[in-house]
Amino acid sequence: MKPSSHVLFTICAGFMLASGLHAGPTVITVAANQPGHQVSPSLWGIFYEEINHAGDGGIYAELVQNRAFEEMLVAAGARMEGDQMVTPKGFKHGKWYKNELHAWSLIANGGAKASIALDDALPLNDQTPHSMRLEVQQTGTRAGVANEGYWGMYVRNGETYDLSFYARTEGDQTVTAQLESADGKQTYATAKVPGVAGKWQRYACKLTATGTDPQARLTLCVSKPGTIWFDVVSLFPKTYKDRPNGLRPDLVKQLQGLKPGFVRFPGGCVVEGVTLGNRIQWKNTIGDIARRPGRWDLWGYHNTEGLGFHEYLQLCEDLNSEPMYVINAGLSCAFRSAEEVTNPDELKPYIQDTLDALEYANGPVTSKWGALRAKNGHPEPFKIKYVEIGNENFGPQYFKNYRPFYDAIKASYPDIITIADCPIPNQPVEIIDEHYYVAPPWFFANEKKYDTYDRKGPKIYVGEYAVNNNVGSGNLLGALSEAAFMIGMERNSDVVVMASYAPLFENVHNRAWAVNLIRFDSARSTGRSSYHVQTMFSAHRPDVTLPTLVEEPGKPAPKSGGGIGVGTWNTQAEYKDIKVAQNGKTLYQSDFAKGTEGWEMTGGDWKTRDGALRQSAGGNNLLAITGDPSWTDYTLTLKARKLGGDEGFLILFHVKDAENMAHWNIGGWGNTRFAVEQKEGGANREIAKGGPDGGIESNRWYDIKVEVQGGKVSCYLDGKLIQTAKLTPPQPPAGIYALGGKDEKTGQIILKAVNPGPVPLDTTIRITGAAKLKPKARVITLAGDQPSDENTLEDPTKVVPVESTFDGVAPEFNYTLKPYSLTILRIDTSG
Ligand code: AHR
Repeated sequence: MKPSSHVLFTICAGFMLASGLHAGPTVITVAANQPGHQVSPSLWGIFYEEINHAGDGGIYAELVQNRAFEEMLVAAGARMEGDQMVTPKGFKHGKWYKNELHAWSLIANGGAKASIALDDALPLNDQTPHSMRLEVQQTGTRAGVANEGYWGMYVRNGETYDLSFYARTEGDQTVTAQLESADGKQTYATAKVPGVAGKWQRYACKLTATGTDPQARLTLCVSKPGTIWFDVVSLFPKTYKDRPNGLRPDLVKQLQGLKPGFVRFPGGCVVEGVTLGNRIQWKNTIGDIARRPGRWDLWGYHNTEGLGFHEYLQLCEDLNSEPMYVINAGLSCAFRSAEEVTNPDELKPYIQDTLDALEYANGPVTSKWGALRAKNGHPEPFKIKYVEIGNENFGPQYFKNYRPFYDAIKASYPDIITIADCPIPNQPVEIIDEHYYVAPPWFFANEKKYDTYDRKGPKIYVGEYAVNNNVGSGNLLGALSEAAFMIGMERNSDVVVMASYAPLFENVHNRAWAVNLIRFDSARSTGRSSYHVQTMFSAHRPDVTLPTLVEEPGKPAPKSGGGIGVGTWNTQAEYKDIKVAQNGKTLYQSDFAKGTEGWEMTGGDWKTRDGALRQSAGGNNLLAITGDPSWTDYTLTLKARKLGGDEGFLILFHVKDAENMAHWNIGGWGNTRFAVEQKEGGANREIAKGGPDGGIESNRWYDIKVEVQGGKVSCYLDGKLIQTAKLTPPQPPAGIYALGGKDEKTGQIILKAVNPGPVPLDTTIRITGAAKLKPKARVITLAGDQPSDENTLEDPTKVVPVESTFDGVAPEFNYTLKPYSLTILRIDTSG
């Protein structure tokens, strides 16, 4: 094949380099004397959500699971049907709890006669209506209860633990608290709490361990027969900065390693809730933990909310990060139950709740909520800087609800920067949040995504991004593709002002999301290879970008083109007279009298009827595909009729496979708008938006035409041109991605380069416009032997950054990038 030059990118209009064909190695040229835009100190942040037991059984240091016996709390507004939780809109969640006394068990040894049960008589308070009743007829050698913690409690030799519990009794008791092995055979600490008697009271003691056990348990045993009720049983180890109700120090350390510019909290979908009543309500999450009811967390477990609004703000302060607070915009999760507040009067409490939260965080101590913050131990304001209005909301109701929040926030806190979940027609939008959960090819292919974004439009916050498919539970190739995408974000950080990988944490015993940044169990934690990519980008974030040109001679030009198809999204429709023509030649003509021969379906109920191809099932993204993946430049014509459902038509073209294609989405987003979307590695990207208002009518045939010529797409409905779009040519996965920048304090050039390929890559690095260059550079390399390499709790340092030096920097020098690597060179421009 004839070699060709593949130019990945140039920035800065004044930066001109010869980039024609040439043989030889890959060349990276950095213009040291042409500083580009400033890179925001808040570019790289973190996304925190209660998912995968990130908080409870995670960074929130509480060791007792189901401490308040509220495990059975269902989402507000939902009901139980058998072991399913069902929302008013019919969304079902399968059985999530083990039993109402989950994590608790009875101890009845040596002839003891005792039982435990959930009780709602005489509750501790109206926030925690349930307690645990222990009835002991005979104590035998031991009678009481045990709590197994979150997959075991980590007890460490010499460490002191703070135990507290509420109890009421009939008669009086001495309660013996112990830290012991899961089978009860080893005792690590014992403390006696005498005089437990009468009405609800709080009791507390300390336990100092004499042994280490990552799987220990807590036991509470009584001294005599009788009945005792327990509630809010809490056990804390040493916490970060010894804060009461605090955090696990090792996990805080992992976060410190990320040096996050901001912390987004508290989510994620949990902000929206599975019903509106299930949304996070910050006022329930502050103050005494015994008065926090907790909430059913839509990731499938009870959340104590012991880690609440105040603790999130404290964490931001401890990490020296800007707080980014995400609020509910009067919409529950669109993918689950999609409840909406449509009445402006009913939206008012939601807006007031936001203003109260901001007053709690930012208001003076003389204000109502600022005074409560002071009472809770923090007189100084926390200074929330960003507020995101909603999470993953879109569509007409979001567009309506957004503005009153925006106006109210800006009226009271003009300095707060607001973030919208999507572009909102005719409304002031400062920053838009984009989310990408994709496979590695998508990130490689989209390294240039932001190069063409409108510099005059709203800024972009890439609020959630991660490789989370085709990589098992995460691997080095995924991390390198994220690094390539981050290079693209950093290069475009005049537009992409913030980004946060998601999700952050995973307790390995409860992986609700496929791939997460930091894994842990009760005792251990490790950052995945993606974590180290994040730490490297944070630690080596330049102050300004430098124009960088990457030339890759010999890289084969990517091939575009592909077959065609039709599809539906929560809609029933039929298609006929499907024709693909190229320069007057017919490449394909449907003949549904012969059935569906030659078509491949990804799901749904596709049948031929009356000469048309009909899809009759419910469900999303039901596709029928045909044609040749090598077809290019053609005109697709067809007729389409909607039979029922929420949306309109999906017209597929340039189809390589179900994960890699483009489509015209006619009447998407609940039949509200049209868009051309390109899907790479399974992830959709809108490449043209707009179209006429209103959607597709049922029971009427539409004429559709899609012309694809040289990467340009023109889409016609009933003979009228509706939208045009430009397809991004697909990128081959291997290649090189590089970016230079400057650290203004040290004057150093920071050069980042990703080699995702299996072989060492010889490069020539040219630094133009630097008066002086020191020969010795600092090098930080993250690399592995296999793209599938990954860190685990058992092998936590398989893929970690390695420091070295390189002695050979000159205006032009050779450097070999390791296979499967991210390399950072810090080059001194002085001396
Ligand atoms: O990060 C996990 C989830 O992904 C978040 O809750 C949500 O915002 C997105 O859908």
